Amino acid sequence: MLILAIESSCDETSASVVRDGRSVLSNVIATSRSAFEKSGGVIPEEAARRQVECMVPVIRQALSEANVGKEQIDLIAVTKGPGLSGSLLVGTTAARALASLWGKPLIGVHHTLGHLASTLLELGEEPAFPAITLSASGGHTDLLYRTAHARGFVLGTTRDDAAGEAFDKGAALLGLPYPGGPAIQEHGAKGKRDAFRFPLPLNDGSTLDFSFSGLKTALKYAIRDLEAEGKTVAEVLPDIAASYEHAVCRHLAARVEESLGFHPEVREVHIVGGVSANVHLRSLVQAGIGARVLRFPVRLSYCTDNAAMIAAAAYTLYCERGERACSPFTTGCSLRLEDVLAAH
Ligand code: KG4
Ligand code: ZN
Repeated sequence: MLILAIESSCDETSASVVRDGRSVLSNVIATSRSAFEKSGGVIPEEAARRQVECMVPVIRQALSEANVGKEQIDLIAVTKGPGLSGSLLVGTTAARALASLWGKPLIGVHHTLGHLASTLLELGEEPAFPAITLSASGGHTDLLYRTAHARGFVLGTTRDDAAGEAFDKGAALLGLPYPGGPAIQEHGAKGKRDAFRFPLPLNDGSTLDFSFSGLKTALKYAIRDLEAEGKTVAEVLPDIAASYEHAVCRHLAARVEESLGFHPEVREVHIVGGVSANVHLRSLVQAGIGARVLRFPVRLSYCTDNAAMIAAAAYTLYCERGERACSPFTTGCSLRLEDVLAAH
């Protein structure tokens, strides 16, 4: 089955052709990120305007790189939400128009379900369930228990900022560009992780939820104290970046480990979403899961937003739910993942 997928929920415009939910024939990603380096975050109207300009060229390029024509496409998939409403509308309008013009079935995919399926891309084997998945990006942070690709429930979610947002806001405080995750990782690579002390959030054992806003405030105070001593952030950048990165990752990895205490039957642990690109996070999670299999997307381009993961998710939905997966959908900037995982 050849799927053409479109993803445009934030600042990326992406189109991809994927065979049988696994084999990526093309995965074109146009990003307007450089336009937002100075603002410290995405400006929604500006992102949508750029997506209108590049949507058609990106789809054309995805078909041409995959060397397939529209007649070979079996199904069209698109991110239906959540995300920025203008950006989502650009993608879903393009997908609806193509599906109608070409007479193809259309599947609307929840963005996080796309991230969940990103570990399947280029995978030669079937993952084993039940699995715990940590999905952490700039827009969400969820800990999930799944018994199949698109079936399961949410164990914990963030009560304030998302993990990626903690990196992005932390980077802005440290004078580093957006997106903050890669910048903090790069500067923290040579730093000492225990040079600055940060709290472990929500640490009384009563919840599997996350909270990152306190870490951001702690970073603000650490910078204030530093400056009161007559020092600058630049002088201690590797140490403060490494310590802050460790604090965010330690909170995420601790939740994975705690959840395994409640669910020892879990066979695999997956980490997905933009933050799963983080090398320190991967090693902390690996250290806490015993002999279980750890999976993360095989390429960095599958960690951050991309259309190939939307194709992979659409394929699993189609396999698990058949024609029902192609039901009409509404585009929504705040769709709940729980509803998708429980709908089986
Ligand atoms: O999944 P994604 O591309 O977009 C959303 O759905 O939000 O995730 C983007 C987020 C940004 O907040 C970025 O700072 C973070 O992922 N990120 C990272 C790394 N690469 C991207 N965070 C930590 N370490 C990284 N290497
Ligand atoms: Zn995402």
